[in-house]
Amino acid sequence: MARFFTLNTGAKIPSIGLGTWQSEPGRVAAAVTAAVHAGYRHIDCAHIYNNEKEIGLALKSLFDKGIVKREELFITSKLWCDDHAPEDVPAALDLTLSDLQLDYLDLYLIHWPFRIKRGTTISPENFLPVDIPSTWGVMEKLYDLGKTRAIGVSNFSTKKLEDLLSYARVPPAVNQVESHPCWQQTKLRTFCQSKGVHLSAYSPLGSPGTSFIKGSNVLTHPIVNQAAEKLGKTPAQVALRWGIQMGHSVLPKSTSEARIKQNLDIYEWSIPDDMLAKLSQIEQARLMRADFLVHPQSIYKTVEELWDGEI
Ligand code: A2P
Repeated sequence: MARFFTLNTGAKIPSIGLGTWQSEPGRVAAAVTAAVHAGYRHIDCAHIYNNEKEIGLALKSLFDKGIVKREELFITSKLWCDDHAPEDVPAALDLTLSDLQLDYLDLYLIHWPFRIKRGTTISPENFLPVDIPSTWGVMEKLYDLGKTRAIGVSNFSTKKLEDLLSYARVPPAVNQVESHPCWQQTKLRTFCQSKGVHLSAYSPLGSPGTSFIKGSNVLTHPIVNQAAEKLGKTPAQVALRWGIQMGHSVLPKSTSEARIKQNLDIYEWSIPDDMLAKLSQIEQARLMRADFLVHPQSIYKTVEELWDGEI
């Protein structure tokens, strides 16, 4: 199994990246450092995770010590919902670059198809109509300038991605969405593959530590556990290996050095077809429903509208 997938830009995206959502300040630098030492070459960041400065310090130290070179790493970040206005997008990327102490990103994503007023939080009085075409136009300019070597989106349904592809001058390279054995995204993945958009999976372990995600059962699911037992692997390794065998990159978050290493051991073995068939029968449930974007004053009145029925 290749350790990389190729994007529609020709660039290679490592098939595993370290997730940093909910990586506490004070712990994320050690996690990034441990990951790079273990062999990770892909770090998934976002402005809203509130830890890019600390990640930047870790990266600078790794570069200064000659542990890794900038060009060997693949660094992703994301435009937050309060920076969608075309005049705000360049400054948002500049701030992320300065926090990460980088002069370019490998991938910059629109974090959500959702917009709020500049400098505010997600609350109904701050909701604004979304205008992806105008935001995307600036993302394309930042790509032209070389400030980011690829651009993409996150949390886009098949329909929203199809709309974007209909007018994009620079087609999105990636759609980063929730995916794991209990939310396989079969329809979206097939669509992405047919259009040359790479799918990248957040919450590939089902985000077991996230308080507002109820009923996460990826790591405890009997079929995942049976497969793990037969293969002599952990349920987490099975979930991650399942993802790369489906053809998408996986972004497991961990701040534990032991689990960071464990999650990288997904290349020298594979899930056989009969087990893949069993995994494909698992009952499906979206964990990240994002009800916080749904409101009578939101452009999304229901969860169905937000995900265009993919729930
Ligand atoms: P920790 O950071 O203490 O390792 P996801 O990437 O799906 O959002 O899941 C992240 C959650 O899964 C975190 O709570 C993380 O905790 C935990 N985790 C990461 N790797 C493993 C693993 N190999 N086994 C069990 N839990 C894991």
